[in-house]
Amino acid sequence: MHRITITVNGQEHHCEVSPESLLVSLLREQLGLTGTHVGCDTSQCGCCTVLLDGVSVKACAVLAVQADGCSINTVEGLSKDGVLHPIQEAFSACHGLQCGFCTPGMMMTAACLLSTNPTPSDEEIVHAIEGNLCRCTGYVNIIESVREASRLIATQQA
Ligand code: FES
Ligand code: FES
Repeated sequence: MHRITITVNGQEHHCEVSPESLLVSLLREQLGLTGTHVGCDTSQCGCCTVLLDGVSVKACAVLAVQADGCSINTVEGLSKDGVLHPIQEAFSACHGLQCGFCTPGMMMTAACLLSTNPTPSDEEIVHAIEGNLCRCTGYVNIIESVREASRLIATQQA
């Protein structure tokens, strides 16, 4: 077992993990953060997307030990003091989800995109979410949701 320290949504955790433990297992099973979903065993679906030091990663493709010393943001950290994040507001307003299984990953991918590119084009949104699969929506409302999130964030910052 390895002892690691990670900061998740601003809170520091000291954890014992086996060398083969995945980051997604650490988040879900040890820390109880089940908003990060597991939708495949081939690292294709993107349901497990989180931010690792600000960059979106598939948490099923990262070993827990690789996250030692890192800062992780999960979907649970988007809202603050019960107030939805603009990305969450936008997905709700634009019906960017149906079953919701892909949604945590979609929103964390959107968070990564908008942090580096606050006003992405539709083409850039499509490119950003190409590693996130959705079986329900046909993607149109997801793209609209990311556009709306961009608008909401700009409005908040004005
Ligand atoms: S669970 Fe499907 S990419 Fe991670
Ligand atoms: S809303 Fe069902 S998989 Fe995307």
